[in-house]
Amino acid sequence: MPNIKLDLSYSGITEREISEYESKVQEIYNNLNEKAKDKNEFVGWLKLPSSYNKKEFERIKKVAERIRKNSEVFVVIGIGGSYLGARAVIESLTSNFANMFPKNIRKSPQIFFVGNSISPNYINELISCIGDKDISINVISKSGTTTEPAIAFRIFREYLESKYGANEASKRIYVTTDKKKGALRELADEEEYETFVIPNNVGGRFSVLTPVGLLPIAVAGIDIDKLMEGAKNAQFNYSDSSIKYNQCYKYAVARNILYERDKTIEILANYEPKLHYLTEWWKQLYGESEGKEQKGIFPAGVDLSTDLHSMGQYIQDGRRNLFETVINVEKSKTDIKIKRDEDNIDGLNFIANKTMDYVNKKAMQGTVEAHVEGGVPNIIINIKELNEETIAELIYFFELACAISGNILGVNPFDQPGVEAYKTNMFRLLGKPGYEFDKKDKK
Ligand code: PA5
Repeated sequence: MPNIKLDLSYSGITEREISEYESKVQEIYNNLNEKAKDKNEFVGWLKLPSSYNKKEFERIKKVAERIRKNSEVFVVIGIGGSYLGARAVIESLTSNFANMFPKNIRKSPQIFFVGNSISPNYINELISCIGDKDISINVISKSGTTTEPAIAFRIFREYLESKYGANEASKRIYVTTDKKKGALRELADEEEYETFVIPNNVGGRFSVLTPVGLLPIAVAGIDIDKLMEGAKNAQFNYSDSSIKYNQCYKYAVARNILYERDKTIEILANYEPKLHYLTEWWKQLYGESEGKEQKGIFPAGVDLSTDLHSMGQYIQDGRRNLFETVINVEKSKTDIKIKRDEDNIDGLNFIANKTMDYVNKKAMQGTVEAHVEGGVPNIIINIKELNEETIAELIYFFELACAISGNILGVNPFDQPGVEAYKTNMFRLLGKPGYEFDKKDKK
């Protein structure tokens, strides 16, 4: 049974309109299945939950245990698809304040993400924060040449070597990269760092359930066996060829129907701060997969009710090119009962004896109704609760829906040619060999 239930009753889309896409979606799914057999296509994620490398998976668990024992700090270096998935899962399933608890309560190392910007302040401040704590690092890069993580790795490699000496440092550096190629692979082989492989046929933004995400997630104390179990269930559930019962197909189709109605921006909304980075991961997944050839739904995100006090005005009354997809976590992990107050100066006694989660749900219901009335169709994704199984299901759900949606849109969801443009300019401005340098740019 799927843990996700889609509610299209606020979307303005009928079941009949969805069903018109049945054969198209089935054809797309069959094509994806065919492509998944070809190691040169980026469709390896489709069957990953049932076909991942079990030997490497066991090694990930062992290494994670070692890191949990010998390190107070675990620094994860990566950007984009080599960063957001791990952070999304860790933040969804651990305490909002996990890094702030004292060591004996925390039980897991503090986890910090770096190499996702070029800010010197961020790295200097992180190094000050680490102080004399024991650390291990995991550098993740499929290409092995991405500038942001490469700079961060150069700095942290030197930091570790001066802290521990080259020999001990090399035992605290874990590399996740391509099996054979790239500068990082070369360096890892030369320095004999322990390595994990990013499968050839899985692109960055689809790689969270490979060692890219699994090692940091396991270090955070999350049960990766359960995670893969949830993904496996999703692989089975979302292969249902009937669009009537396949929530994932429906989501892919619904967003395309709305796009056809000039709703060109999709806002993913959550009512749980733990899901902030899941939204960031989703933004990359859909933005990089669909935004090409002058087409695509622009993926935006809001954390509610927080952003109702900043973005709410625009959503309610601004340009009507928006639709919203709301993630509703049905069962909150914990709750707080609001007490009655004799003086009631704050006027809150009307919600006395109600719980905060109850109030949060009413805020959601009220917002959905207001936004729909304001001309913003809503799609609701109901998810039972947040745990390893459900989060993996949600990840798989979004990945498959993205691949189907991109195909309906008529783009290749697995490339990202546009990402190169800024790099070319940056390298030219920095005078990288091989990039033409114009003297007028010199400062
Ligand atoms: O999805 C993608 O392909 C990109 O976002 C990459 O993941 C990102 O650019 C990082 O690339 P790499 O893992 O090669 O360092």
